[in-house]
Amino acid sequence: MPEDSVIRTLIEAALSARQFSYSPYSGYQVGAALLAKSGDIYTGCNIENAAFSPTNCAERTAFFKAVSEGVRQFDAIAIAGGTKDKAIEKYAWPCGVCRQVMAEFCSPEAFYIISARSVDDYKIKALEALLPVGFGADNL
Ligand code: THU
Repeated sequence: MPEDSVIRTLIEAALSARQFSYSPYSGYQVGAALLAKSGDIYTGCNIENAAFSPTNCAERTAFFKAVSEGVRQFDAIAIAGGTKDKAIEKYAWPCGVCRQVMAEFCSPEAFYIISARSVDDYKIKALEALLPVGFGADNL
């Protein structure tokens, strides 16, 4: 579990990344901040598309930025999602596709997902709680 100060830094980065959300179709803005084992933070936002299915979630944007730079070991991700121009009402948890991407690179017991409404209001779950009995490299 990351220290409180690290959690705060990650949530601040997720909230900041949220401002870049490109979400003209849903109006739902998501920011994510992914903590690598090195201590580096990779941010992401959701990026929508008029054809809908090419849309990329904030979490995957952050993961793909990191992996595309050779980084594959991670400790935690903070996520902040909510409707544009409104206070964040609900905790946003990653979609199934993003959970599967997390499972590709992260330990189920030692990767933490922080869902934040603000820097002082968040919940944390380990990946294994969000994707139990998943499909992975061990199955192949
Ligand atoms: N979205 C994310 O960015 N992360 C999630 O975990 C769930 C959904 C985005 C996709 C789409 O742009 C918008 O939120 C509404 O689904």
